Amino acid sequence: MQHYKKLIADEVSALIEDISTEDMMLMLEYPAKSEMGDISLPCFSLSKLLRKAPVQIAEQLKEQINITAVERMESVSGYLNFYINQEQFAKTVISDILNKGERYGSRDIGQGRTIVIDYSSPNIAKPFHVGHLRSTVIGNALYQIYSFLGYKCVGVNHLGDWGTQFGKLIVAYQRWGNAEDIERDAIDELFRLYVKFHQEVEKDSALDDEARAWFVKMEQGDSEALHLWNWFIDISMKEFQKIYDLLDVRFDSYAGESFYNDKMDPVIQQLKEQNLLEEDQGAWLVRLDSFNMAPALMLKKDGSSLYHTRDVTAAIYRQETYHFDKAIYVTDYSQNLHFQQWFKIIELMDYPWAKDLVHVPFGRVSLEGSGFSTRKGNVIKLEDLLQQAILKIKEIIEAKNPNLDNKEEIAKQVGVGAVIFNDLSGNRIKDIVFSWEEALSFEGETGPYVQYTHARACSVLRKAIDSAEGTLPRGQSNVDYDPALLHNETEFNLLKALSLFPETIELALVKLEPSLISRYLVDLAQAFNRFYHDSPILVEELALRNVRLALVQAVKITLQNGLRLIGLQAPEKI
Ligand code: ARG
Repeated sequence: MQHYKKLIADEVSALIEDISTEDMMLMLEYPAKSEMGDISLPCFSLSKLLRKAPVQIAEQLKEQINITAVERMESVSGYLNFYINQEQFAKTVISDILNKGERYGSRDIGQGRTIVIDYSSPNIAKPFHVGHLRSTVIGNALYQIYSFLGYKCVGVNHLGDWGTQFGKLIVAYQRWGNAEDIERDAIDELFRLYVKFHQEVEKDSALDDEARAWFVKMEQGDSEALHLWNWFIDISMKEFQKIYDLLDVRFDSYAGESFYNDKMDPVIQQLKEQNLLEEDQGAWLVRLDSFNMAPALMLKKDGSSLYHTRDVTAAIYRQETYHFDKAIYVTDYSQNLHFQQWFKIIELMDYPWAKDLVHVPFGRVSLEGSGFSTRKGNVIKLEDLLQQAILKIKEIIEAKNPNLDNKEEIAKQVGVGAVIFNDLSGNRIKDIVFSWEEALSFEGETGPYVQYTHARACSVLRKAIDSAEGTLPRGQSNVDYDPALLHNETEFNLLKALSLFPETIELALVKLEPSLISRYLVDLAQAFNRFYHDSPILVEELALRNVRLALVQAVKITLQNGLRLIGLQAPEKI
């Protein structure tokens, strides 16, 4: 469709002075109803420039424009509606998809430029919560999208593996913990100790001093303190790894906060030299008043560093190491100010790449009414959430398709897919409420619905092979299908939906909004299901059957590519 938009934009901008193709591209719309054309130009905003009524402009353009790919135009109350040549369109869309296969939708606009994406980044010794899950899912989707468009990506898990919380954990462990429990169930047990510490400190504030003392020991390299710290990290990482394995998410670097311990001094030095640091009762901070922001604390009274200090240092390190074109940070919006503050500091330090730092905030996830025991607020054990989803999908499969091969694996792909898709279902900035019913449903706008539609397309193609008569279209030069046979409305709408895939991916990248792809997949699945109900595929007439199979094959490819981009598997049978 974008190709057609471009043809129209070129033509119209050549006819109207002062309007570029790019401006024209932005003006063209896809009408909600196909009666209103395939592409439409609202002439209202041109009215001022041309000093003519919109209706007049539409009429006039209609006379002047001549594009072979456009079959006819209609001028309707200030809109110029374009109807494209369906046969030509069907041919290009299907052959493009079948030829490109798993590369359909990909491009080379990145030309090897590097994008560093900081995502997931849980805190060890604090719980991995649903917010970290959402960061993992959004970050991973951005990683896939950028890679698909030809960028080189570096996925960084900026683990929260340093800080006073470790002092607290050491205190709690020594008083109320034991090694066996931690070895058996690290996350649960560390969480219990974390909660216990916070309860006890209410009664006895001396515990806080003790915790701080342990952290100071860590910073001074005390071997006992570091030994415990290392152990907490190892066992927590093993647990996180289980979640990453379930999600099928990987990172290129696990350089966490502690990685920067020996790299902050020169940065503090530079800040001082640039007169950006100010002393305030023994602590050091950067004033940001003139930018309407609270000051950013860089060094505490006791000389220890902070979250800001580490982020500034890490960004400089990443620029020096990866020469990034963009560095992206995916966290919930409660950290907006934090990122604004330190992005500003990088700018004040005169780094020209300050403009390439991008915070991608997202809304909170809550589990209210989900029937899932949340233990404390939104803190739940993520692995349980995923396992529970897998179990529920398994029950559905048992009931609907008990003879399915490889049930375990498929339940895993669909159950985990449902949770991922749920996190990507709306604009990222919106808060979401997790509901089991909604997330796991095979109908409605869910991951299982899209995956199931993909499996349905696969099953049609399998049946066609089994019944031998149909030769499957291969998309090579000697294609044996005739696109002219696709002319009913559901077929044409499906073709339109298919053709929107590449531009949807590009828009998702520009807006850093993977949910555009999940919503696109729902639309495509719906268009396919309408076609499936309206148009019998395995018909007697071989020519019609072949072209419809070609269309099904194109749907299968596109759904699969789209699911991959947002981190979901596309099982062939469910
Ligand atoms: N560990 C942080 C948290 O859980 C997120 C880190 C995000 N990345 C960063 N470079 N600040 O809130």
